Amino acid sequence: MKNILITGGAGMIGFELAKQLSRKNKVIVFDLPEKIKKIKTIKKNKNILFFPGSILEKSAIYNACNNIETVFHLGAMLGVQNTENDKLKCIEVNVEGTKNVLDASIITKVKKIIFASSSEVYGEPKENPITEKTTTQGKTVYGISKLLGEELCKAYHQKFGINYTILRYFNCYGPRQEKQFVITNFINNVKNNKSPKINGSGKQIRSYTYVSDTARATAGCLDNPKTNNMTLNIGNGKEPINLIDLATLIIKSINKDKILRPTIIKNFKGTDRKKNREIYFRYCDSSLAQRILKWKPKIKINEGIKMIINEK
Ligand SMILES: NC(=O)c1ccc[n+]([C@@H]2O[C@H](COP(=O)([O-])OP(=O)(O)OC[C@H]3O[C@@H](n4cnc5c(N)ncnc54)[C@H](O)[C@@H]3O)[C@@H](O)[C@H]2O)c1
Repeated sequence: MKNILITGGAGMIGFELAKQLSRKNKVIVFDLPEKIKKIKTIKKNKNILFFPGSILEKSAIYNACNNIETVFHLGAMLGVQNTENDKLKCIEVNVEGTKNVLDASIITKVKKIIFASSSEVYGEPKENPITEKTTTQGKTVYGISKLLGEELCKAYHQKFGINYTILRYFNCYGPRQEKQFVITNFINNVKNNKSPKINGSGKQIRSYTYVSDTARATAGCLDNPKTNNMTLNIGNGKEPINLIDLATLIIKSINKDKILRPTIIKNFKGTDRKKNREIYFRYCDSSLAQRILKWKPKIKINEGIKMIINEK
């Protein structure tokens, strides 16, 4: 049994990861107090302990790292609206926060850190599907903050020898995702007999990965030295889908296809999305992660959507 710390452990991916890792390890879920309060009511599990705190409070993260062998660092500020509306906070949480987690890890002699990065580091890519060799571009403050987080992991490895794995997640979805994210937003609208609203052409393409698949790949980095000091794309590249088809699939899955259709609003007025902030075509080549981790995404998009609908 290993002692594991997950920052952002009460979040969508973090808590799924905690559940998976707790089968064989002692897991500390570190997250903001208000987030921990929500999660505590979900389930009791003797291998999961809760540690309320912020990665911006150095003493809290030092204390949480005590006796820990591996840190999964998922705590972050995310979401288009949040990050674009408060760029400074995004930089603070995602860059300074990551530095605090790394400092605490060095002092407490943590052996390895697994860092949750994002496909946003690729911006609008010149090629698809995206491999780890695709050029990164900082298109958004969030993407830049994640790139800096990656560089911090590499710099701490260079200077102090701590092992890292950088995981670039591609559009993960699942139950308990914050409501501003597209799949949750469409499901909530359709359930309330409202058309899902799409800004732009609706042809924006993404590949979505169900949270249990993302968490399984992440957990697989724990006992796999081949992942040391590697950067891996984690996503389901098999089912690229555009927003119109995604909205239509959700409408059908909730049996509202007789009464609802997606509403397409060509412009981005009155939304948190800006035309120049939009990424039009991005999907994932995760063959490197699949080989190293002996992992494959299992959940198809129609199955994942049904699971969320049935959970709500
Ligand atoms: N969901 C996706 O599609 C996606 C894609 C790429 C990368 N990621 C990354 O994966 C990680 C997990 O994302 P998620 O989808 O589970 O989001 P989430 O919002 O559910 O989880 C993030 C967690 O971080 C916590 N957090 C925020 N500020 C904190 C602070 N100062 N101290 C401690 N905890 C703090 C939040 O309370 C939240 O529980 C994040 O790092 C995110 O950037 C997610």
